[in-house]
Amino acid sequence: MSERKGIILAGGRGTRLFPITTAVSKQLLPVYDKPMIYFPLSVLMLAGIREICVITTAQDQEQFFRTLGDGKDWGISLSYITQPNPEGLAQAYILAEEFLQGNSSAMILGDNLFFGHHLPTLLAEADEQKEGGTVFGYRVVDPERYGVVDFDDQDRALKITEKPRHPTSKYAVTGLYFLDNTASARARNLTPSNRGELEIADLLHSYLDDAVLLVKKMGRGMAWLDTGTHASLLDAGNFVRTLEERQGLQIGSPEEIAFRQGWIDADQLRVRAKLFEKIQYGQYLLNLLV
Ligand code: DAU
Repeated sequence: MSERKGIILAGGRGTRLFPITTAVSKQLLPVYDKPMIYFPLSVLMLAGIREICVITTAQDQEQFFRTLGDGKDWGISLSYITQPNPEGLAQAYILAEEFLQGNSSAMILGDNLFFGHHLPTLLAEADEQKEGGTVFGYRVVDPERYGVVDFDDQDRALKITEKPRHPTSKYAVTGLYFLDNTASARARNLTPSNRGELEIADLLHSYLDDAVLLVKKMGRGMAWLDTGTHASLLDAGNFVRTLEERQGLQIGSPEEIAFRQGWIDADQLRVRAKLFEKIQYGQYLLNLLV
């Protein structure tokens, strides 16, 4: 089990998918057969992290609690922190300072989906690095939509730029950040950018300037999916469906991960399966027991 604590950042400026209503938080929309937030939650659980805080807007907190609860059913602890205004990804480390209690952390954005054979290895390696931080670079066709990382010819990160107009690299920084216990103090030293946010790129730069940030490239065998547009949300759903139906294995199942990690026993899994008995997922969970 990891000593790190987890942060899921799921607040923000509301969904751009359907901007006139905030009825449902974007991170709770289904990606095929599960709420979107199950996927990032599963990533933290795969990393062995059992103490996780979920950062949301005040108005959305109840929806998130109704969806996820206190985590006991998955053998983890979930707590909730409010972000009054979307003042930047790096602000999460200030808001979560008390929760972190001086521990290192892994933060994941509530709308980021990862899938791939190497994921558990990448997570374990990032977790092992006690000082500094690890983030991941992923090749994309539209780097200008992301934080972009430039590498030297030995794959060492040189700089990270948030949404550059003319990107000089194809590598986006994904929304998964393994940082040591200096993150909150570093975040406090940041000044808001022109758009009034504490930028994650600036926080990462403070690590980069101290030569303690590893930006690891995720290879082509990994999927990092986006849900920022209607098309990409549908693509992500189709991706999950295709793999699940082809393999008969679930992606992003907190029940399965908790059971395999030994955090819940067979009886607890049966109780969860009962909740889903009317859909295939219930049978899937029961099949884990045979
Ligand atoms: O997805 C990876 C990208 O995420 C990175 O490459 C970028 O460096 C990083 O800035 C971020 O870019 P986005 O354009 O996706 O950021 P966005 O403002 O859309 O926020 C990402 C998620 O975090 C979104 O679900 C809302 C949430 N959020 C955002 C802000 C600014 C918060 O919960 N609080 C905030 O203050």
